[in-house]
Amino acid sequence: MSQLLLGSWIALLVGCTKPDPESNPGKTFPEAFKWGSATSGFQVEPGCPTWSDEVCVDTQSDWYAWVTSPEIIDSMPVTGEDVRHSPGMWETFEDDVQLMQQDGHTLYRLSIEWSRIFPDDASAATSVDELEPYANSAAILRYHEFFAALDAAGIEPLVTINHNTLPLWVHDGVGCHFDYENCTARGWADPATAYRIALYAGFVGREFGAEVDQWATLNEPFANLLSGYVQPGEDRAGPPGLTLAAEPGVAVIRNQIEAHAAMYDQLKTEDLSDVDEDGAAANVGIVLNMVAIDPKNPDRPEDDDAVAHADHLYHRLFLDGLTDGAWDEDIDGDFDTTRDDLADRLDWIGINYYNRMLVSSIAPFQPFGDLAPAFDFLPEFTWESYEEGIGRVVERASVYGLPIFITENGTPNTEDAEPILEGHLESLWQAIDAGADVRGYAYWSFVDNYEWSHGLDMRFGLYELDIATKARTPRPVAERYREIIAAHGLGPE
Ligand code: FCB
Repeated sequence: MSQLLLGSWIALLVGCTKPDPESNPGKTFPEAFKWGSATSGFQVEPGCPTWSDEVCVDTQSDWYAWVTSPEIIDSMPVTGEDVRHSPGMWETFEDDVQLMQQDGHTLYRLSIEWSRIFPDDASAATSVDELEPYANSAAILRYHEFFAALDAAGIEPLVTINHNTLPLWVHDGVGCHFDYENCTARGWADPATAYRIALYAGFVGREFGAEVDQWATLNEPFANLLSGYVQPGEDRAGPPGLTLAAEPGVAVIRNQIEAHAAMYDQLKTEDLSDVDEDGAAANVGIVLNMVAIDPKNPDRPEDDDAVAHADHLYHRLFLDGLTDGAWDEDIDGDFDTTRDDLADRLDWIGINYYNRMLVSSIAPFQPFGDLAPAFDFLPEFTWESYEEGIGRVVERASVYGLPIFITENGTPNTEDAEPILEGHLESLWQAIDAGADVRGYAYWSFVDNYEWSHGLDMRFGLYELDIATKARTPRPVAERYREIIAAHGLGPE
């Protein structure tokens, strides 16, 4: 493949009560709408101000191994920043929840780390019962404390069961990077991972079901594929960091879709407590990186085909798959069959929205060849802010008729974060005004954190983190967000 094409692939990854405009000049949101922020365990837990590394830092995940491996830091776009520069929420959680409460938050999206609860090889377990003896009780206790703190503050937890990281016994990302043929723990490329993560989801549902109703199974499955198997690059390079690895890449998509459905079933079986008494003990969704997709050249009809293929890969594989059971065996852009074991496995859709993508057709060239013919476009993706895109992706998701949560939205441009927040919320408000059923909004992120391969180089926090003291200082965007939450809307022009 030419450098030009490869370069372009590098750019790929790096995103009720209805208000009425006339009667609602304050642009208020629906009464039950929830406001909050989002984080993930790997990104915020390490860095405890006083607790020992042994207690604070989870060393058992593929991402921990990845960002601390000298060979990976040498050979990949991975900064290798000390993970202890993270905000240390494993220790500071209760204090942070107080800040959220002061700011009027009523929703907090967090993840439970599989590798914290199951640091050691639990692959012999064939049921949730059999999994129990392997669980780390200290980690479980700490997560219970998290939920108690949220409950006391009147903040509803939305829990991601898997936010990008896998335990080392499931994924040896460094080993697979250097010698894929001989690596044994192949993470998402191994169908057994779908089975194992479903048991883990069942365990989590049983253990925390009395504290949690809102579950997200996976975070941005397509982004994991791109940064791990298609084109790890400056935007994000994740384990195993393979380039155009067609065979595992296609398996990764399929296994993640199947994993969601199996996790859904386990959660419905194991979580039987309806915390908020809305009639459902477990509301199970998936979080997708939804993007506003446009043709690079609107006058070129082939680019419209490219838009359709990008929409298929980013959105439809998961959304059509988990609602109608639509299954595209060869990832060629057409659904081949319907699978009952995948259908009706979605209670809500989580949208992470960051940006727009311009695509141009490169058909008949296909970087994944015969294995995945729909990968036939070049995406251009930047961190340029495109605020109306959030309304567009909400409209796109609304087609499925399910409730929607904005599970992440924010900007690394912390200087300009206030107008960007307002622009996003204006576009979101308009979509709701037009009928979209959006239930809540989680800003990414509560506090600056470990931005995967970038470490602390990219910062998104409402609160600025002082790496040395761990002090949190509200940015102007935190103040503005507090006002919007207090007004439950954007206010008159
Ligand atoms: C999303 C991730 C989240 C964070 C933001 C900036 O892709 O889900 O963890 O890194 O990007």
